Amino acid sequence: MTDTMSGPAEFDKTRAKLFQANIVGIMNGGALALMISLGHKTGLFDSMDGKPARTASEIATDAGLHERYVREWLSAMACGAIVDYDVDAQTFALPVEHAGLLTRRAGPLNLSTQCQYVALLGEVEDEIVEAFRSGGGVPYDRYPRFQALMAESSGQRYERTLIAQVVPILPVAQALEAGIDVGDVGCGSGKAMRIFAAAFPASRFVGFDISEDAIAVARAEAAAAGLTNLSFEVADAAALDQVDGFDFLTTFDAIHDQAHPDTVLAGIYRMLRPGGTYLCVEPKSSSELADNIDEPMSAFMYSVSTMHCMTVSMAYGGEGLGTAWGHQTAVERLTLAGFADIEVTGVRDDRSNSYFLSTKPG
Ligand SMILES: C[S@@+](CC[C@H](N)C(=O)[O-])C[C@H]1O[C@@H](n2cnc3c(N)ncnc32)[C@H](O)[C@@H]1O
Repeated sequence: MTDTMSGPAEFDKTRAKLFQANIVGIMNGGALALMISLGHKTGLFDSMDGKPARTASEIATDAGLHERYVREWLSAMACGAIVDYDVDAQTFALPVEHAGLLTRRAGPLNLSTQCQYVALLGEVEDEIVEAFRSGGGVPYDRYPRFQALMAESSGQRYERTLIAQVVPILPVAQALEAGIDVGDVGCGSGKAMRIFAAAFPASRFVGFDISEDAIAVARAEAAAAGLTNLSFEVADAAALDQVDGFDFLTTFDAIHDQAHPDTVLAGIYRMLRPGGTYLCVEPKSSSELADNIDEPMSAFMYSVSTMHCMTVSMAYGGEGLGTAWGHQTAVERLTLAGFADIEVTGVRDDRSNSYFLSTKPG
């Protein structure tokens, strides 16, 4: 019961001071995310990787960039403790421990790729504000840079994990060698299917996505790779109706942002042949905020959800499940679609996703 006689709570100065430090840290963090994104895009982190301490001028020359910009960027990096700064020598160096999380050679551990989402989401801020007031959402085509960034961030993960770590957990691992029909729904620019198609030439692969731009890239890259067992179709996942057409279906990060996820999951169930397997990969989280609150990336996850995953669903009159729809809701919705004996698993180098595996009864 609330004590209405005690008046307003006393102002806790220590708490206010701690919060001030917190909010200043957040402002610096947000700004540095933009700077890290610049370091990735300009190739500065890669260019500094493994090199001794150098002046801004030497670093700029080596990277083929304008010294004034590089110097300002290095100053931000030094203040953010991302690069080491030697005051006497006026030199900067990227510590090896940091390079392992910021350079392209780090593959899926390269967090500078993820920092690019901050700038990308900032582009639609005004439209998100309007959606808070009027409802609805911001549709996919308002994020022109999304498909390329998604392809980069998921692609670096797929290269490391798909064949080495994901295939071994699949009940269809051997069948893929022999030759089966495989589909990927919400395939984006098609990297996952390209990796599978190259590794399993006897199987046939098809990727579906609603984005014409993504499918154009997927087709061009499959052709460039000379893959004849791979095709792509522009299609709305909620309208797919190739009954009993596939032995193995996948979705990578492509259910939670659907407008009508239950319709899509029911369609996937129908598209599978009896005995066929569905692999549903979704951001790892609980459906309960209380379980997520102490997770290191939870604030980032809910923020990306507000400014992309949830809003794109709501833009099409969808339910807006959100990025953190969680494993409990995922199992519930998969069960509703007809799937049973759902195994919730994962792979070593993809800690941020849950892998839901289920086989349609034969
Ligand atoms: C988060 S991205 C994941 C892309 C890809 N699977 C990856 O991991 O890189 C979700 C994808 O689902 C696609 N998508 C969204 N709604 C769709 C729909 N109704 N039908 C087909 N694709 C859809 C988007 O265009 C986007 O490419």
